[in-house]
Amino acid sequence: MEIARTIAEARAAVVAARARGARVGFVPTMGALHAGHLSLVERARLDGGYVVVSIFVNPLQFGPGEDYERYPRDEPRDRRLCEESHVDLLFLPSSDEIYPSAAKITVRVRELSDTLCGPHRPGHFDGVATVVAKLFNIVQPDRAYFGEKDAQQLAIIRRMVVDLNFPLEIVGVPTVREADGLAMSSRNAYLSGDERRQARSLYVALSAARELVRGGERDVARIVAAMTRIVQDAGPVQIDYISVVDPETLSPLERIDAPALIALAVRIGRTRLIDNLRLDPANGGD
Ligand code: PAJ
Repeated sequence: MEIARTIAEARAAVVAARARGARVGFVPTMGALHAGHLSLVERARLDGGYVVVSIFVNPLQFGPGEDYERYPRDEPRDRRLCEESHVDLLFLPSSDEIYPSAAKITVRVRELSDTLCGPHRPGHFDGVATVVAKLFNIVQPDRAYFGEKDAQQLAIIRRMVVDLNFPLEIVGVPTVREADGLAMSSRNAYLSGDERRQARSLYVALSAARELVRGGERDVARIVAAMTRIVQDAGPVQIDYISVVDPETLSPLERIDAPALIALAVRIGRTRLIDNLRLDPANGGD
């Protein structure tokens, strides 16, 4: 596995791979790698070519008072996991390498960034879109892999690629879950034992919504009410939102008559967790 710490090193490695005729697959991450991240790497491996992973905890996407400082960082472990997953190039830039001076450009995907998590994390998706645009320009991949766990991020990146004509394909990869259904996340490491038990309610609520849709329920207000009860019964948690939206435009739906994204964000103690399911009523709710 090659390691690049500078943009110049990363570019040189990718140029050399391309000269050998390889297509380039790219998995951007913030590290603290888990099986969710590794499933993106696995998918990139299966698609063939030269696999690039970046690890960069992007200060631009953390708001004041969020967890930028305490975000888990473990470079030796992440390096080992990448090596074991047969990553070809690991890009580990410093903050100064990515932001040598205060940026004068922000990539903002309007409307898609203003719903769901948007109002609860002002500036977050602008930070994501801006750093991903920069990473795409540095790595210049043919394909880039993103998790469906962050469904709003995936929708925003897809739209950015269309609007800015990035010559690459975005591949969405299904959410990897713990045995009890909790979506894997680097932030799960923050949870105490009690909080970890409460965290299970996100997936329980999503599964209940799926059962309701399977049983013929189409009314969003009733589905959201049932999910709210389940999450609130789990303990002293704070619900940021439970919403049912169009999977591409993310605009709110009142009825589930076409494929829909059911998404929620819940604060458990100091930890904010998100999860979602995509449901297709034409397909028995799946
Ligand atoms: P991070 O949270 O490290 O996630 C990196 C990628 O892994 C994202 O595409 C995310 O959706 C995916 N992922 C995380 N948990 C997953 C799970 N349980 N199953 C499947 N995929 C999962 O998302 C980011 O970093 C950043 O915003 C980034 C895109 C790197 C820009 O800074």
